[in-house]
Amino acid sequence: SDKTVTAIRGRLLSFRHAPAGPGDGGSHRYLADGLVLVENGRIAAVGDYADLCGQLPEGVAVDHHPDGLILPGFIDTHIHLPQTQVIASYGARLLDWLEKYTFVEEQKYADPAHAAAGAAFFLDELLRNGTTTAVAYGSVHPQSVDALFAEAERRGAGMIAGKVMMDRHAPAALTDSAESGYADSKALIERWHGRGRQRYAVTPRFAITSTQAQLEAAGALLREHPGIHMQTHLSENAEEIATVRRLFPAARDYTDVYDRFGLLGPTSLFGHCIHLSEEEMLRLSDSGSVAVFCPTSNLFIGSGLFDRAALAREDRPVRIGLATDVGGGTSYSMLRTAGEAYKVLQLNRQNLSALAAFDLMTRGNAAALGLESEIGMLEPGRWADLVVLDPRATPAMRHRMQTVGGDLEEELFILMTLGDDRAVAATYLRGRKAQERQNP
Ligand code: GUN
Ligand code: ZN
Repeated sequence: SDKTVTAIRGRLLSFRHAPAGPGDGGSHRYLADGLVLVENGRIAAVGDYADLCGQLPEGVAVDHHPDGLILPGFIDTHIHLPQTQVIASYGARLLDWLEKYTFVEEQKYADPAHAAAGAAFFLDELLRNGTTTAVAYGSVHPQSVDALFAEAERRGAGMIAGKVMMDRHAPAALTDSAESGYADSKALIERWHGRGRQRYAVTPRFAITSTQAQLEAAGALLREHPGIHMQTHLSENAEEIATVRRLFPAARDYTDVYDRFGLLGPTSLFGHCIHLSEEEMLRLSDSGSVAVFCPTSNLFIGSGLFDRAALAREDRPVRIGLATDVGGGTSYSMLRTAGEAYKVLQLNRQNLSALAAFDLMTRGNAAALGLESEIGMLEPGRWADLVVLDPRATPAMRHRMQTVGGDLEEELFILMTLGDDRAVAATYLRGRKAQERQNP
């Protein structure tokens, strides 16, 4: 037959549902010697190697990672393509940081060659960190998104991305208009949304940089393309919130600004969500919207501490995603991001168990995107996007692992606290090795 079959063997970990807490053994499946059988890029079977090896067609070479911990590839639910040369910019808070660093770098994405080189670096770096799907902001230029999707398609990765819509309070070279923002977004949707694995996200940057007319246009795009994603920023920083209140005096609060234009809903992703009122959390919950936690960014830009417990409150739960937010964020690594998430929650007298963190980076983020039937789990039918982790990647990790007697949760907590790109031994897209660590 002309089926393409590949197979990956090692320790397998996949989540079934969000862990109720530490020790929730039912939340996941762990196989000490498992096999992932891949047909045409999707998972065909997952099980114990001893049970499945008989089903291996003749001639299929098995990629064996005897000590590797194999999980679904990480998912990053909020990151900025044109900020790979903004990351690590000194001494500013949100609004100054945007003006002084971000708007300067984003202008360079008008050049398709710069965009193509940026997209290649961006995907290399994501894959080196074990991230196989990302939800990305482009710049205002449609060519930035063309470059990202083209590069993702070439590599077999599935990205969600959109061109930023921004028609005020930014340099002229970085602004569109309500009309051109709509038309350019629509053309990109027609070109890319649903082409192979690529999906479009309507991307009004935030309320400060869009007029009412542009937010209306964003709402129209959502209505005209049911099921399409929307991404924006919400309630990140005190100055930002005060500015939004001044610009939209008729709105009840920041969340209401977006609500008025039909931008809330189950495919809507709101970056940060740090300083929300009870009323705003209730509205996000009722609409099924997603709050995206970006811990390294919130610490680096000094924005504040994400209140996971308040958002997750059982009587009005807000769905939550986890993300790097590079270049406000300081690491492409979802492991580092989870480690910093733990510290942010510590400062709020909250916890993030290792099980909850690894669920969030994989199945949880897939669910936040409504893509749990496609990615995020080692289950038949899902794309075989995988990350192979090495819990002994560094001397400090190897040394610490000596005290771990086979306890999975402890191993995971060491990975998220001490791990980063060095702990990513390999990354697979559609069952094929897309990245392998150079210096083990
Ligand atoms: N708010 C509006 N734009 C941005 C951005 O690029 N990064 C962050 N962190 N917040 C924003
Ligand atoms: Zn952002």
